[in-house]
Amino acid sequence: MKTDFFLEIDHYISGLLAPEDQALKDTITSLDTEGLPQHSVSANQGKFLQVMTMACNAKKVLELGTLGGYSTIWLARALPEEGKIITIEIDQHHGKVAQQNIENAGLSDKVEFRIGKALDILLQMVNSNNEKFDMIFIDADKPPYTEYFKYALQLSRPGTMIILDNVIREGKILNTTSQDEKVQGVQRLNKLLSTTENVTATILQTFGAKEHDGMAIAVVNRVD
Ligand SMILES: C[S@@+](CC[C@H](N)C(=O)[O-])C[C@H]1O[C@@H](n2cnc3c(N)ncnc32)[C@H](O)[C@@H]1O
Repeated sequence: MKTDFFLEIDHYISGLLAPEDQALKDTITSLDTEGLPQHSVSANQGKFLQVMTMACNAKKVLELGTLGGYSTIWLARALPEEGKIITIEIDQHHGKVAQQNIENAGLSDKVEFRIGKALDILLQMVNSNNEKFDMIFIDADKPPYTEYFKYALQLSRPGTMIILDNVIREGKILNTTSQDEKVQGVQRLNKLLSTTENVTATILQTFGAKEHDGMAIAVVNRVD
């Protein structure tokens, strides 16, 4: 694959449509200084999430996998005044770094942090007030992606958009005998998407600043 060419195109697009301000640049820098992995979405992918969040007029967003808060900032910036994003992160240190980055971006009033294992927090959310979200972005560990998706459906209403990152994994999903738990997790998810009748779904391949991958996008169907 012509990676240099796709990288150049990615920079062309982000230069025009997704330039990072200081808060986003500082967030990326903080990952290195605080010893977090550089696993954030790219600038163009962040902008894509922002456009999708605005397209569904989201006021309530749920994110699984905060890391340093880079995608959280893109998502939070799509919200109206009264909008809110709940972001779930298992690692306390990641959560702390993200909190600082969100504060630095002036978005603390829009972002609520939940630190803990996503499956536990999702179960609590479903069992407690069963709040419904307009947009759900899933970007935590890959093996439980089907469980995350099923919980996401329970926290959705007709029209909710659910986006799941890293579902192509450089094409490794084509290997039906893969022993990689991450690959197996997204293979199960992709299959589940194809058989879930109350969503309309597709997968966009992504390449450029990051390795070849894909984002799954599912919208919960209207009930006519
Ligand atoms: C790919 S990174 C998220 C990147 C972030 N969405 C961004 O683009 O800026 C995945 C994050 O999910 C967190 N994570 C992994 N397993 C988790 C789990 N079981 N519950 C909650 N968070 C988890 C990791 O600690 C890591 O910070």
